[in-house]
Parts: sequence; structure tokens; C-alpha cells
Amino acid sequence: MSDPKQTDGPTHLHEERTFPPSEEFAAAANGTAELFEHAAADREGFWAEQARRYVTWEQDFDQVLDWSDAPFSKWFVGGTLNACVNAVDRHVEAGNGDRVAIHFVGEPGDTRDITYAELHQQVQRAANALADLGVGQGDTVAIYLPMIPEAVVAMLACARLGAPHSVVFGGFSAEALHSRIDDVGATLVITSDGGWRRGKHSALKPAVDAALAVGDTDVQNVLVVRRTGQDVEWTDGRDVWWDDALAAAAESHEAQAFDAEHPLFILYTSGTTGKPKGIFHATGGYLVQTAYTSSVVHDVHPETDVYWCTADIGWVTGHSYIVYGPMTLGATQVMYEGTPDTPHQGRFWEIVQDKKVSILYTAPTAIRTFMKWGREIPEKFDLSSLRLLGSVGEPINPEAWMWYREVIGGDRCPIVDTWWQTETGGIMISPLPGVTPTRPGSAQHAIPGISAAVVDDVGQPVEKGSAGYLVLTEPWPAMLRGIWGDPDRYKETYWSRFENLYFAGDGAKLDEDGNIWVLGRVDDVMNVSGHRMSTAEIESALVSHPKVAEAAVVGAADETTGQAICAFVILRSEFVEEADEVGEGENLIAELRNHVAKEIGPIAKPRQIMIVPELPKTRSGKIMRRLLKDVAENREVGDVTTLADSSVMTMISAGLNKGD
Ligand code: WT7
Repeated sequence: MSDPKQTDGPTHLHEERTFPPSEEFAAAANGTAELFEHAAADREGFWAEQARRYVTWEQDFDQVLDWSDAPFSKWFVGGTLNACVNAVDRHVEAGNGDRVAIHFVGEPGDTRDITYAELHQQVQRAANALADLGVGQGDTVAIYLPMIPEAVVAMLACARLGAPHSVVFGGFSAEALHSRIDDVGATLVITSDGGWRRGKHSALKPAVDAALAVGDTDVQNVLVVRRTGQDVEWTDGRDVWWDDALAAAAESHEAQAFDAEHPLFILYTSGTTGKPKGIFHATGGYLVQTAYTSSVVHDVHPETDVYWCTADIGWVTGHSYIVYGPMTLGATQVMYEGTPDTPHQGRFWEIVQDKKVSILYTAPTAIRTFMKWGREIPEKFDLSSLRLLGSVGEPINPEAWMWYREVIGGDRCPIVDTWWQTETGGIMISPLPGVTPTRPGSAQHAIPGISAAVVDDVGQPVEKGSAGYLVLTEPWPAMLRGIWGDPDRYKETYWSRFENLYFAGDGAKLDEDGNIWVLGRVDDVMNVSGHRMSTAEIESALVSHPKVAEAAVVGAADETTGQAICAFVILRSEFVEEADEVGEGENLIAELRNHVAKEIGPIAKPRQIMIVPELPKTRSGKIMRRLLKDVAENREVGDVTTLADSSVMTMISAGLNKGD
């Protein structure tokens, strides 16, 4: 684990600028200063109140938290509920069926407005269709879909049946999909013929076919949504069109309530080892915290706001802040299928203007890309409907924060920089937009009900002005309930570094005013465009290639994506000469990049692969990534005295400079 002081992160840690909310914003905000007092005085009472305010329980709970088997928690013990009923049915019952739930914008320009009443019809039919295919309580369903409304319907239909879903991001390869389907034990896969991306059809069904061709899964059926109309291979008896299944299914579906601790979903994320972890979340606590944070952090007012979270449903941000949080509140939101530069670089701002988006939640990497494209682009559009901006996924540098505030937010919108993780389920550290004077680049403080700290090597809180490790000091409702099928790994990964503290894997600094600045990962996890990538996973993909003997991967600072994947590869001796031939080195590098894309997915392709004769190792054989990072970031190589062979770095640098 590296020293938190050496991680990438905001450079201006002595930020003095603060931006208090306008009086008008503060007066109407859902989040108030009293929440902090209430939570501090009676944490569990506070959460009980949020649970009853934001969620409808079929049967009320009789205990807020059971922490007797720590670090395994149970929240809202004895309570029963249905997540889909909370996100859909009850809004219709309350007379809000005509409210638009989803303004869908397809990449080619097709649009669909779906009301809560229509959504209610669809989730009932979908739940019946799934049940007709044999899906019931406790069965797991894999979802591999583009950003289309059917993805939301599929997730909610699973929740309605008590069948935990496991959404796999469409950018993952057949191999990655297979390992997730297998690990989660899915009996059904929901996919589509394809999706629209940069004006072209991307195919999804072939990856499902390839994943299932590997064998040894429990999959009985594949449900296929028609989106692009492209031809797909068909396996009779296994494959079923979504439209046909829904048309044949009964119209109404009586939802059953499940225990608060019933698993709602499993989502895979990269860790420090090669094998992705299935993070699983329970229904009650997760729904309470996502709805509460949508209300007090994103300040969603369901009657008047148009909310837009630009994340993909394949990541936790899409789960918590497209599906469960905002929909539990009954919000109206935009869902966009495509990329920000198709057909032009103003696409996002055109959508904000057309749909009168009032709350926008996006990632720093997107903001930095927009900065690069230039302010003239957003300036062509009317962005006056915006009243709150959010950021998530990685540290936002003060320059990007200021640009976001001025150019997109017209200097009037509070920015919430929200720190959280797949594991935390919901937002943990963030300003409250109507309360906290915001500070560019800092996520600032734990929200009411959450307890975070920055600690030193032995778990003691650091002084103001110092850096350390970010930890969570109390359990929270949306916390992961474990790693699917591997309780020991859960304890080991999160609870073994410091006693009784959840270690998030991030370094952080406390400024003189006590604000938290998240600096980035201190473990072997990279953050590329806000997506978590494991160095070990990419290394193992590289060494699975027949020409590769050894590989080391580091995340190098990148202006746009935060970090970029850089790989150092030692070839098997019989291929070393080949790589030296003119032009062959490049071909080989292209081959290796494509190999990683095939093993994990295009998102994991290294930006750079360097073929080297040796890797820097300590005497105990541990690769010193710090030195490789120096090379990848074009810096003078640091201290090499702990290397087993101190000439290795000279060899690497000499080899790399050869072609210049
Ligand atoms: C890691 C979690 C949270 C949903 C998207 C990513 C980094 C996340 C921030 C932020 C600085 C952040 C951390 C964290 N991160 N938000 N506001 N400031 N860093 O979820 O894939 O589980 O990744 O993303 O390093 O540990 P994830």
C-alpha cells in the first residue's frame, strides 16, 4: 500500500474560496442544519425517522440496527418492503401516475416519455414474464443492456420478484460477462440486440452467446430486447424476445413484501486481486439511504425538478441515482443512451435545454472533456433551468470545479462533490447544498447520519492539515452486506486494516478547516474516467497472452481521465527478437491491447504498453509500482535503493528511449 501523500490528487490543497448557497436555495432546500444535530444526538433514531419518511414498509421494523455480528450488519430488522412498489406503485396510488418518470433520449434522436403509470404497467408485465420463465424469489438475473428504459424496467421487475439482479456494464467482454454470470449463479440473462453508440450499432447479444458457449452456467433463458433491429443469432428454446414475453404475460402483478435484509442486487467491482468482487446490497437500508441522499444531497423536489444523472446503469451510480434513489422519491428524470459528442459536442447541453434539466449529476472526467472542447459549446445553449450540479467518481480538481460552476452553473448553482463507493451503496461525504458553503475540490464532510474520519497508520485521527487514510467509523444503512459467496474476503478487504473501522482504500487530507479532500486510491486500484480498474486484473489478462512472461500495470496521471492505464510487459524469450524487428513492436503492442479488451472489455485497454527487459522488484520480489509510475508520468525515477537490482530502472529507461 502506498503512502497517501504520494497519491495523485488535487494540487491546490490550500483552497480559500468558498461559495455559500443563495438564501433562495437554502430556504427551499430539503437538507437542513438540524439534520446534523438530530443525527449527532441520536444516530439510530435519526435513521429510523428517515426510513419511515422516505420508504413505505409493508411491515414496520422493530430494531434499527443489529451490529451484534459485526462487521456484518442488519438494518431495519423485522421490516418488510418491496423496492419496486416503493419506486413505482405507490406514486401511482398517490395520484401521480401522470408524472413523467423517464424522459428517454435515444442517441439517434428518438425520444420516449414514460409516466409512472406506464412504468407501473411495464414492471407488472415484466415481472409476470420473468416469473413465467421460472424466476422467483432468490433467483439471480444478469442484465446486460444499453441505456434504455427497459434496463430500468428489468431491474425493477427483478426487485419486484425478490430476484437479485446483477447488472453487467455493456462495455465488458464476453469473458468478463461469463465470469459474472457464473459467480452470481444467474438463471436468466436479459440483453438486447444492440445499442446505439457514436452513430453505430454496438452488438450485445453476440457477447451473451459467447459467454454462454463457455458452458457451466445455470442460465436457462436469454430475454432479448429489440433496440437497434440488427440481426442476431438465435438459440431456439433458450432465447425469447422481450416484447413477445411481455405481450404474452398477464397484465397485473401482485407484489409481495420481502425482508429488509433480502438481497436486492449484486454488482461486481474491481479490487486489489485479479478476481472482481460481487458486492451485494440488501433492500431496506439501501433504499432508505439512496432515497434520503437523493433528497438532501441532490435536493430532488419530485413535483418540480427534472433530474439527470449521466452515469450508465451498469455502474453503482446508475443503480443508486438513476433507479432506486430518485424513483423512490417519484422524481422525473432524463435517461440518455449515447455519448456526449454524438452527433455534436453540445449534445448534453442541448438535452439540458430541451428537457429543462434542473439537477445534473456527472463525473469530473466528463467535465474536463467539456473544458477541453471549449466554453463556446455550452454557451450556445440555454442552461438557465439548472439549479444544482453534482460530481462523482473521482477527485474533481479545483479548476474543473470552477469551470463547472461558472460555465455550466452560471455562478448560481451549488455543486455537490459526492464521495462514495460501490460498497457504500449511497453518498457518504458531500456538502449539503442548502447548508454547506462549498469549497472547490473538496467533498468536505460526512452527511448527517454518516461518520467518516481521516486516520494515520495506526488508526488514530490525523490533525487538521495532515493526510492519512479515509475510514468510516460507524455502520450505515446502505453498506454492503458482503462479497457474494465470500464472507471472509469481506472481512479481510474492508475491516482488517484498522480495528473496527471500514477502510475505503482511499487516501485523504483534512484541511485547516476540517474539510475532507479525497486524494485517490492508496491500493492497487486505478480510477480511469471514474471507473474502477484493478492493476492485478489487467496484469492477469496480459500474462494470459502466450507471448507475455510478466506484466506490471500502473495508473498514470492523465489530464482528462484522471488516471490512464500503463502497462510494462516482459516478453517470453522466444518473442523478444520478434518485437525488436522494425514495425513488429507496434503490431505486438496492438495485439496485446486487443487481448486485454477481449479478456475484460474495451474500457480496460491500456493507454500505453511498454515492452521492457526487466521489472523493478524489491528483494522480496514485490514490484515497485512507484518507480514504474515515475516512468509512465515522465518523471525522474525516485529512490531505487530498495531494489534487488538497482540497474533495472536504467535498463528500462534506456530501452524505452531507444527509438527516440
Ligand atoms: C472510488 C469508488 C461512487 C460511485 C462511482 C465510483 C473514487 C468516488 C469520489 C469523489 C474523490 C471519489 C474513490 C472511491 N471516488 N467519488 N467525489 N472524490 N474520489 O464507484 O467504482 O466503487 O469507485 O471512486 O477512489 O474509492 P466505485
